[in-house]
Amino acid sequence: MKFKKKLNYLIVGYGTIGKIHLKILSKFKNIEKIFVVEKDIAKHPKKKINKVHFFKDLKKLNLKIMKIKLASICTETETHLDIAKYLLNNSINVLVEKPLAQNSHTAKKIINFAVKKNKTLFTGHVERFNPVITKLKKLFEKNYFGKIYSISLQRIGPEPPKLKNRDIVLDLSIHDVDLINFLTGDTNIFKKIIKIKNKLDVYDSAHLILKRRKLFIYIESNWISPTKFRTIRIIGEKKSADADLIEQKLNVNYKTEFKNKLGVNKINSKSIKIEKKEPLKEQLKFFIYSSLSNKKLSNQFALKSLKSIGL
Ligand SMILES: NC(=O)c1ccc[n+]([C@@H]2O[C@H](COP(=O)([O-])OP(=O)(O)OC[C@H]3O[C@@H](n4cnc5c(N)ncnc54)[C@H](O)[C@@H]3O)[C@@H](O)[C@H]2O)c1
Repeated sequence: MKFKKKLNYLIVGYGTIGKIHLKILSKFKNIEKIFVVEKDIAKHPKKKINKVHFFKDLKKLNLKIMKIKLASICTETETHLDIAKYLLNNSINVLVEKPLAQNSHTAKKIINFAVKKNKTLFTGHVERFNPVITKLKKLFEKNYFGKIYSISLQRIGPEPPKLKNRDIVLDLSIHDVDLINFLTGDTNIFKKIIKIKNKLDVYDSAHLILKRRKLFIYIESNWISPTKFRTIRIIGEKKSADADLIEQKLNVNYKTEFKNKLGVNKINSKSIKIEKKEPLKEQLKFFIYSSLSNKKLSNQFALKSLKSIGL
């Protein structure tokens, strides 16, 4: 995907994820200027990149003169509604970091406002752009695993730099809630959500469990594991699979043969070839392309992920 026009891009919020948006966007050749707005700018070391300009107050910018048509909202979740409305009101297409809002009621307000303003809105559930997920989605559609008995997803470690007012389910588990909705093509409602304060003074671990007819879904999220894992295990009637979302690896196991009475067995497995991609880069390209071609995107998936966790 290539875009021809020279563009100016706005990033609101220069914390953990805003810095990653900037790192990727600054390498896009067709982006001429990037404006970064950070209210606590003194706290953040500014990158010295020619085309990047830092500001402190969004409301003091003349967005029309700055010719901004595209923006990423990378601020704390509860600020998304106000900032999204302000940008959409200024005719700017908006990519909002996940989760779209702190609950589905507020998320709906953002979605409706974008429709009213006739602008492109997209929610950054970035794992949908992980090539392993793209592959798994195709395998699910082909019924490759046969009847699926269980899916377990792990998103554990490390401790993020800032934890104040963070909710582990809204912040971390929601990635996997969205993935499970995406892969199964359903809205899965997690009635059993267990949150634990294991080590930190916030809920640092969560376990989400769902049994739907004979399918069992389990999501484990934490900020305390010393090792970082982002994995998915699928157990199906015909095949099972292990996916590693960080390494972008996918292994399929299709038959275990018992070799002797001691239970020594042979697992027949193969690794599926995955062409590695940077998910956030793919997501940003998708958002820019959709906006430039005036394509309106559905954000129902973002709403569903919030409903799935009872918000
Ligand atoms: N896609 C992912 O994998 C991923 C990863 C991390 C965070 N996130 C999401 O991104 C959002 C931000 O998370 P974070 O960890 O980067 O938070 P953060 O606290 O590190 O950064 C947010 C920044 O926004 C700034 N800010 C807040 N309001 C502002 C305003 N009105 N104008 C200018 N700056 C403002 C804050 O000062 C802060 O520096 C959250 O919704 C979070 O869930 C997504």
